Amino acid sequence: MNHLRIKSLNEIAVEIKNTKLRKNLGVLDLILLGLGAIIGTGIFVLTGIAAAQYAGPAITVSFAIGAVACVFTALAYAELASMLPVAGSAYTYTYVTLGELLAALVGWFVLMVFTCGGATVASGWSGYLVGILRSLGVVIPDQISKIPSQGGIINLPAVGIVFCLTLFLLVGTKGATKLNGVLVGVKLVAILIFLVAATPHIDPTHWKVFAPHGFFGMAAGAGFIFMAYNGFDTLATAAEECKNPNRDLPIGIIGSLLVSAVLYIVVSGVLTAIAPYSSLNSSEPMAYALRRNGVDIGAKLVATGAIAAMTTVLLTQIFGQSRILMVMARDGLVPDFFAQVNARFGTPHFGILASGWVMMLISGFVSVSTLGQLSSMATLAVFAFVSVEVMVMRYKHPEVKRTFRCPAVYWVSSVSAGLCFFLFTQLWVENWKFYLISTLIGLIFYFSYGYRHSRFSRHRA
Ligand code: ALA
Repeated sequence: MNHLRIKSLNEIAVEIKNTKLRKNLGVLDLILLGLGAIIGTGIFVLTGIAAAQYAGPAITVSFAIGAVACVFTALAYAELASMLPVAGSAYTYTYVTLGELLAALVGWFVLMVFTCGGATVASGWSGYLVGILRSLGVVIPDQISKIPSQGGIINLPAVGIVFCLTLFLLVGTKGATKLNGVLVGVKLVAILIFLVAATPHIDPTHWKVFAPHGFFGMAAGAGFIFMAYNGFDTLATAAEECKNPNRDLPIGIIGSLLVSAVLYIVVSGVLTAIAPYSSLNSSEPMAYALRRNGVDIGAKLVATGAIAAMTTVLLTQIFGQSRILMVMARDGLVPDFFAQVNARFGTPHFGILASGWVMMLISGFVSVSTLGQLSSMATLAVFAFVSVEVMVMRYKHPEVKRTFRCPAVYWVSSVSAGLCFFLFTQLWVENWKFYLISTLIGLIFYFSYGYRHSRFSRHRA
């Protein structure tokens, strides 16, 4: 058995040439897709919980630590995406550098990122919707807005939003990118409203105890909110749909990540300066903090923006998941039908439907508190792999043309790999059982299905 078989760069070139996906995306679409994918539950929901439980006002430092890990990883992504502009991102990079077994594992982690992340976001979306409707006098009964373990039957708003976005993505990428563009505008305006409305209420005494749990509180906070940064890698999965991927992908990846990092650090700083950190353990901390300071209308506007934000994130999670399935199916590691592209709409319809169904099932019935952390852990694992892979590619293939080169690559990528690994260990203590079981399921699937159906095995037969 040869689990280290490696995909060649020539095969990648053929895949790029043969793609049936429509090439709709320009650089602005990519930056908007990036912001759409990144800014969501992390800032609108998790910030307050992380400040209250782990980091205190030093949550700003947690966001900065996360930003360093992500910006450094994004440089690696940008270089690899400029060399290998093919849907599949981290999964494909692993196939080319480290071989099939690890590629299957990274593919599995990427699927975990999207599935667990998407379900978490759908649940956050539902919470905000129910809250806004309640403030308008419309009460949705617990039976249809909560999961069984919380006393309900099904979280119907979460299922409903995943269902609608799945249908929307099914009929084409162009419509989805237009909706994404509008909603990204709404969420950026909401963040701006928050900053303008909150600034007059800043009270430096809230920062008096800055890091109540010291360095490890900040590190745990960074691990907890790491999911907030996940999403920029989704751009790399859209490589085959870009008009000019070699130039536009690096700009889209780094640009959208930098904008998000700055917003996160500023928003978390202001948030913890207008309310005591210990009071922010809320499912809608930004709206709560404004209400606490008497800015009710601002709270409603921010909540509306949060819904828009989470809609865009969900859209990109379903999008990214279907593209990863498509590429893994082309390689034979998951069943073939995931690779079929619908002749009329130019989208991988089975992948989109499967992604949507799984997210509906999880978000409708399963508690998502652990799922969010699993998504962060899987993201960190994938980022660590990518950081190592850019170095392997420099060593093994220095001759291949790169339109973007990561500066000081061995230093930068070693720091990001080390940092991602460190943050991963912060989440390991609480979640190791779930993570280990999920990893085992991925490995069992590879050994029982993927290895035998892989294109390499078929060619040999
Ligand atoms: N980064 C995305 C969010 O925070 C997953 O919702």
